[in-house]
Amino acid sequence: QTIYLSDYRVPAYLVDTVDLRFELFEDGARVHSTLELRRNPESDEASAPLELDGDSLTLESVALDGIELVASDYEDRGDQLVIRTVPDQFRLTVVTWIEPQNNTRLEGLYKSSGMFCTQCEAEGFRCITFFPDRPDIMARFRTRIEASKAAYPILLSNGNDVEKGELENGRHFVTWEDPFPKPCYLFALVAGDLVERRDSFTTCSGRHIDLRMYVEPRNAEKCDHAMDSLKRSMRWDEEVYGREYDLDIFMIVAVDDFNMGAMENKGLNIFNSSCVLASQETATDLAFQRIEAIVAHEYFHNWSGNRVTCRDWFQLSLKEGFTVFRDSQFSADMGSPTVKRIEDVTLLRTAQFAEDGGPMAHPVRPASYMEISNFYTLTIYEKGAEVVRMIHTLLGPEMFRKGSDLYFQRHDGQAVTTDDFVRAMEDASGRDLRQFRLWYEQAGTPVLTVSDEFDAGKGIYRLTIEQSIPATPGQSNKKPQHIPFALGLLGQDGQPLPLQLEDRAPEAPAERVLELTEAVHTFEFHGLESSPVPSLLRHFSAPVRVRYPWTREQLLFLMSHDPDGFNRWDAGQRLAVDVIQSLVGAADDAEVEPRLVEAYRKLVTDAQLDQALVAKMLQLPSEAYLIELAEDADVPAIHRARETVMQSLARALKDELKACYQRNLETGPYEVTPETIARRSLRNTALAWLLMINDPEGRALAESQLNDADNMTDRMGALRALVNSDFEEDRRQALDQFYGGFRDDPQVVEQWFSVQAASDRAGQLADIRKLLEHPAFDWKNPNKIRSVVGAFAGQNLSAFHNPDGSGYDFLADQVCRLDDTNPQIAARLVTPLTRWRKFAPVYSGQMESALERIRDKDGLSRDVYEVVHKSLAG
Ligand code: ARG
Ligand code: ZN
Repeated sequence: QTIYLSDYRVPAYLVDTVDLRFELFEDGARVHSTLELRRNPESDEASAPLELDGDSLTLESVALDGIELVASDYEDRGDQLVIRTVPDQFRLTVVTWIEPQNNTRLEGLYKSSGMFCTQCEAEGFRCITFFPDRPDIMARFRTRIEASKAAYPILLSNGNDVEKGELENGRHFVTWEDPFPKPCYLFALVAGDLVERRDSFTTCSGRHIDLRMYVEPRNAEKCDHAMDSLKRSMRWDEEVYGREYDLDIFMIVAVDDFNMGAMENKGLNIFNSSCVLASQETATDLAFQRIEAIVAHEYFHNWSGNRVTCRDWFQLSLKEGFTVFRDSQFSADMGSPTVKRIEDVTLLRTAQFAEDGGPMAHPVRPASYMEISNFYTLTIYEKGAEVVRMIHTLLGPEMFRKGSDLYFQRHDGQAVTTDDFVRAMEDASGRDLRQFRLWYEQAGTPVLTVSDEFDAGKGIYRLTIEQSIPATPGQSNKKPQHIPFALGLLGQDGQPLPLQLEDRAPEAPAERVLELTEAVHTFEFHGLESSPVPSLLRHFSAPVRVRYPWTREQLLFLMSHDPDGFNRWDAGQRLAVDVIQSLVGAADDAEVEPRLVEAYRKLVTDAQLDQALVAKMLQLPSEAYLIELAEDADVPAIHRARETVMQSLARALKDELKACYQRNLETGPYEVTPETIARRSLRNTALAWLLMINDPEGRALAESQLNDADNMTDRMGALRALVNSDFEEDRRQALDQFYGGFRDDPQVVEQWFSVQAASDRAGQLADIRKLLEHPAFDWKNPNKIRSVVGAFAGQNLSAFHNPDGSGYDFLADQVCRLDDTNPQIAARLVTPLTRWRKFAPVYSGQMESALERIRDKDGLSRDVYEVVHKSLAG
């Protein structure tokens, strides 16, 4: 059941062309597939049978070179169609019948709000027709779609539309041709009654590209932001990576039922509605930024993923890590680089570090898997992006660009490996990245233990850095990795000091990237008058944990003096973590470190500082992050300690918060820029804190903001603040009023669900059960499931970790219920239980039982099986 990287063999047969004809009906679809195949000259399996993958298909007929095969000529094993003897080169025609209307897994061809759409990555194409479903088979596709013209006026597939016409019985057809050979996971088809929004883009070489978005009519006014984001992405990829778009048409389709965020199908990207549709009235700033990033991500895949693709799914990070790195560079360029870095690192340290320290830990290039859908992980995506970022840091921007140019040129049209990527970087730059490759092979988050001493007599500051990598499932005794470690030193006066590595070096920089390659290194910095304060791992130059015995004094100092914005924020986070941790288990009225309060007072009142950074610095470390840092975590106790700090900050800074609120009241029209986002964020943080202490003035501000806001960020900010206050009456009323205003908008209703499900006040288990009964809830819609069940188990941590175990039981029930209809989503929902060993015994025992209950369900899917078994074993 486990698939190993070491078992990789080149395919025995290649497919040159795929000719598809879809007959779409209400009770099913008939798929005619004609493949031109030939024996792979590079394969040594001379007499291998032809094996085609299939899943949930009804086979109607098979013909070889036009001659219908009889049952004895082939074997239909259900998940494989095997033909023992075939010529060296031949044409195979396969007809299958499928039922998109009953496809609740949302893999392959399925229906979402009346339209047909597809999701083929990773292995969904085999749910459409029998095919060698692996990414190293690249073929040219021609696709004819036939359907009722009234119900499905729009018929789309990859490439260019080359033919269309009328058929009998009110049916019509369109034929699409994609000139670029591609793996079948990039195939897409859409049929529906959609409106089209058009725009255009002229490429750097003067080619004219038609840009088209297809959405349901009610969403026609929500396309502008995605379209603008697309044009910015196209320009940026030309300027920064020299990548020009290659087809004449680029299409985006929005669908409501979608397992993931979006999909980069060649020329026809398909998006989860929540990741593409936006308007000022219905989408928050966060959603606007997310959409820009995802549109960019899918667009960038056209080169990093489609033109150059993956040899096999172990190489997934080849395209995902690189593309996440590219989209994060893009977002940094479009907004505030420091803020973007803070957001990325927050996700990484909270969720990816947790994954890397748990039973599902795997290398960026895994060595084995059972179900590939489970490997679309934070490690593949986010850690993968950090690995590419480190290459960028080690090579510098010019050499990195040379490397990416070489990579695209050398491998255009090929299916390759992460190793090929690194080799291109090496060949272009002349750098040796042999040891660096361990980042792809070894799982686990390296820990850097830093110690220092100052030799006053010699004026030397000595920094010792020791690295160790914890054992992970199936991997112990790891080798030291090649780690770029950026740092600076600050003098007592707060000024940056020159970093003189040797005695009497003339010109020394104020920041250096040290390269760690051994288990222990000691660095000496010369010419210092007094002991400096170190600013370690600037910009988070590597995805590692840093242990250093900071004093609160040093953290406060770095918070106001570090020239690296990221490390300023990080110092604030470390200080807040230290203060909260010291209060875990303490009395509710325990005193909160007065220096933290004063530091926050400075932040709230200082209108001169970069407000975007201030807005981030004011966010206390999340419960999830505090749990990640804890051992034997007692979630309710952590929750209380954090609340104590937040409430005492709010009480001490009440007047300052009100002034901050007023100072950041918007006057001009709504726009999405780093400055205005920061203002809204500050204003809404102030509001949230005031309501945490049930301040009547804050309550009045929230009520009027809820009514008068001209945008969703402020409206949601007010709603969230009220929901998380103790004003029960107001909470109920605010929720009802909000729902009444937006009940027809699924994306807003999802936000309305999750603001409740994530709240310790409005989202206790009994409330969650009511939400599941709500008429707007839909078990077939992954977004709704995520916004209630996912938000409860992933964000409402004190309610989920109720010591009576009810939260775990509830989650186990929902996983079992979804396992039959949508195993991909079911497997995702298990995540909060997988780290059961991290929690104090009262919790971990019950989490383990919940996992065992899921394990014992009849007919458990492979998706959930893998996660549950590894969790219980690891
Ligand atoms: N390649 C897509 C993206 O990251 C993700 C698709 C994953 N789909 C899945 N069913 N696992 O852009
Ligand atoms: Zn991607």
